[in-house]
Amino acid sequence: MAAPSPIIAPSILAADFAHLADEVTAVEGSADWLHVDVMDNHFVPNLTIGLPVVQSLRKVSTMPFDVHLMIDAPDRWAPGYAEAGAYNVTFHVEAASDPVGLARDLRAAGTKAGLAIDRDTPVEPYLELLPHFDTLLVMTIKAGFGGQKFLPELLDKVRAVRRHADSGHLELRIEVDGGIASDTIEAAAQAGADAFVAGTAVYGAADPAAAVRALRAQVEARRQ
Ligand code: DX5
Ligand code: ZN
Repeated sequence: MAAPSPIIAPSILAADFAHLADEVTAVEGSADWLHVDVMDNHFVPNLTIGLPVVQSLRKVSTMPFDVHLMIDAPDRWAPGYAEAGAYNVTFHVEAASDPVGLARDLRAAGTKAGLAIDRDTPVEPYLELLPHFDTLLVMTIKAGFGGQKFLPELLDKVRAVRRHADSGHLELRIEVDGGIASDTIEAAAQAGADAFVAGTAVYGAADPAAAVRALRAQVEARRQ
């Protein structure tokens, strides 16, 4: 079976929130997914955007939305994002009381289900949950803020999940998030990631669409 094409997902956390629709349009056509970071000032210290913004963005973009919930009580809030038209809804294993039940609810609501693993959380205890999920997001920083330095040692988790997914023939996207840029994306790809979130590297660039294309070219080159 051929490996699925890599996904490049710009994170609007690094975009200009005063011109969000324009910032989304800037990567429409070059990006595969739009990564939307929802933070609640409880699960992480930072506070960003929530459901009303996702609902509004849904009307101005045709891109699949990859919603990354860094919030407490995802069991309560995550299905609303599925109903708002998200393509994939990822919640943190550290915050969920019933991850498998919530994954079922998300899939029943018509979206893909994602599980996120923060910097200090080992992945091994959760490998057996992965058949219930479509995406596994491995943080390559501590969740909460954009613009942090990539932590290469966290790629050990990506390698472990890749081995597990391949040997079990799981249909699972392995996504990396945090510090992904031209100097780190190849190591992440080589470790086995096939979906790449990039905030600063895309929206900090003069031409965000060109930055997306350049990141994709690096991953493609690494796969040959
Ligand atoms: C941080 C978010 C990331 C963030 C990545 O907790 O989950 O998606 O936007 O930003 P960069 O790419 O700048 O590290
Ligand atoms: Zn994120």
